[in-house]
Amino acid sequence: ESETRALVESRLALIPDFPEPGVLFRDLTPVFADGAAFHALAEALTAPFAGRFDVLAGVEARGFLLAAAASVAAGVGVLPIRKAGKLPRAVLREEYSLEYGTAALEVHEGELPPGTRVLIVDDVLATGGTVAAAARLVERAGWHVAGVSVAIELAELHGRDALPAGLEAYSLLSY
Ligand code: PRP
Ligand code: HPA
Repeated sequence: ESETRALVESRLALIPDFPEPGVLFRDLTPVFADGAAFHALAEALTAPFAGRFDVLAGVEARGFLLAAAASVAAGVGVLPIRKAGKLPRAVLREEYSLEYGTAALEVHEGELPPGTRVLIVDDVLATGGTVAAAARLVERAGWHVAGVSVAIELAELHGRDALPAGLEAYSLLSY
């Protein structure tokens, strides 16, 4: 795990003042572009939850990349948690707060059998609003949230505190 952490961290790009002055943006695209780093990251995200999930859920859009890669490595399926208005059948919707206004995530109701253990995967845990909404969706749909796994946690934003009490959350890197 420490080797993976060092490899991924070595490929992270740090961009000062993006998307606004004062923010140091941690960009994972060079990690995605490096086969060894991407593969190691995908495996690291599921390792702490081995044997405790049936499917991975990825949050649009950057979470899709990691959830898809990790699901192939783990030999399980993937549930796309989409931004509102994209899914064609009957959906459940959960709104969450952005810096300005709100957004919403959706899943197809009945997409998975009741009680399916879902591990939620995303690239970054910032304020936690996105992953918290994803967790509410999974529970409302009648599935079980096995945990949350992210590449990067921005600890100063206290996103963990926004997650449902008792929910296990793993981050490979924390800043
Ligand atoms: C980013 C990131 C996480 C979320 C984290 O997604 O990929 O999903 O923000 O923020 P939070 O913890 O404060 O909710 P974004 O909404 O920018 O969408 P994208 O993946 O489509 O770029
Ligand atoms: N990197 C990527 N996504 C983010 C960040 C960041 O530093 N902060 C909030 N979302």
